Amino acid sequence: MKLTFLQSRPNAVRTDLVALFVPEDRDQFSEVMASHNKLFHGALQPVLDAGDFRGQLKETTVVYLDKAAKAKRVLLIGLGERKKISTETYRRAAAAAAKKARQLRAKSIALALPELEKDLHDSVKAFAEGAYLSLYRFDKYMSKKEDEGKVESIVLSSTDAKVGKIGPRAVDEAQVVSEATVAARDLANAPGNEIYPETLARAAQKSGKKWGFRVAVLKEKEIARSGMGGVIGVCQGSARPPRFIIMEYGPKSKPPVVLVGKGVTFDTGGISIKPSANMAEMKMDMSGAAAVIGAMEAVARLKLAVHVVGLVPAVENMPSGSATRPGDIIRHFNGKTSEVDNTDAEGRLILADALGYAERYKPAAVIDLATLTGACVVALGHVATGMMGNDEALMAKLKAAGEATYERVWELPLFDEYERLIKSDVADVKNTGGRWAGAITAGWFLKKFIGNYKWAHLDIAGTAMLEENGDYTQKGASGVGVRLLAEFLKHWK
Ligand code: BES
Ligand code: MN
Ligand code: ZN
Repeated sequence: MKLTFLQSRPNAVRTDLVALFVPEDRDQFSEVMASHNKLFHGALQPVLDAGDFRGQLKETTVVYLDKAAKAKRVLLIGLGERKKISTETYRRAAAAAAKKARQLRAKSIALALPELEKDLHDSVKAFAEGAYLSLYRFDKYMSKKEDEGKVESIVLSSTDAKVGKIGPRAVDEAQVVSEATVAARDLANAPGNEIYPETLARAAQKSGKKWGFRVAVLKEKEIARSGMGGVIGVCQGSARPPRFIIMEYGPKSKPPVVLVGKGVTFDTGGISIKPSANMAEMKMDMSGAAAVIGAMEAVARLKLAVHVVGLVPAVENMPSGSATRPGDIIRHFNGKTSEVDNTDAEGRLILADALGYAERYKPAAVIDLATLTGACVVALGHVATGMMGNDEALMAKLKAAGEATYERVWELPLFDEYERLIKSDVADVKNTGGRWAGAITAGWFLKKFIGNYKWAHLDIAGTAMLEENGDYTQKGASGVGVRLLAEFLKHWK
């Protein structure tokens, strides 16, 4: 779906539906409604007379226009109280408008932007993102698609010359990050029989070719030879061989930001098998990998002036006669050993190798994304990503990017007192930490494998997999991390 920007009046756009955004505060409501009513030759008068539309956030009212008008209909859409308005309000209001337009079978829609005072670029981008992402559906396996209409084009328009200046770029940026987010959603939603290590690697290669970043893939033999005992150990119960995906964009002269994504294409738990209820969700256990591949797409398409490396250890965690057993001891890439207390704590085992591998790049920073622990979902629900790390400045930058994109992160402490919980009697470290502070003991396990670099760990177990529809997210994979990383990297150095 194509997004475009147009500097023009709302009544000058030829479209199936033009959305007009109206604040709730009395004075502004009257002013905005009066000016729109004038532009549309009194078409809004019946709404004003009836007084039922009040501009509450996401409230909608449809007004049909006569043949002389360029738009077939007007959709009035509320923005809520002015003092509560943020870029997130814009995403949500635009999402409500787009979904209503689809329901009305509009093929082309125009979002007539309200008056914007500050953060012009981010505001325009937010409207465009909210609309685009709200229309996502994972329906490619349905032979009979729901008959619900299909929006084919979205125009964002503004009369303001200042907005006109930044509009086209902001909308282009929204198009890129939204498409990259949708690519991540599609990958994570894809079932385990379609996306397994080899096909995940192929998807990365395809994306690299299409958007212009370099991709190399290590196969099982090379992974074993390089000493990645975690990747081999987790995948050895599967009939599908592992892959180690290496993506790179930008000039090698700069120290890179290395992104690491957990790529467990299906997590049964292995010999420590998971209960069958909801196990199907574990097809999304490669959401970290999907976010990293999506972020590489975004960075390459936006041509950001950064050097970025993406690393994805890709495995399938299965139980079988060849699977890793509880009690097994693994030697990781950097030579450290871990005791496998529970084969379901597999994410940290493969990340340990990738975090060791990252050191060879002498990175400026390393950020890993992983659907790592159920404990993180217990702590933060589906609202915030858990963040841990060893560098306050790096984490502050991620926090800022989280606020800007509303892919919010929240720090959990890696206090020294937690370290003893993952002490092993037989190896350097144990892969479980007992009942308490499960997200943190997983973070501490990773910390044991961090080299001499700045590092942040993002536990996206709750934010990557959603149980219900949101304003511009749907049940299933959210694609979280793509917009966050794109925003973070846009401001890097
Ligand atoms: N992929 C899961 C974590 C997960 C759980 C993500 C629920 C999303 C929703 C991870 O591999 C896992 O199984 N973690 C275990 C660790 C435990 C065995 C120490 C967990 O969280 O229960
Ligand atoms: Mn697991
Ligand atoms: Zn897992």
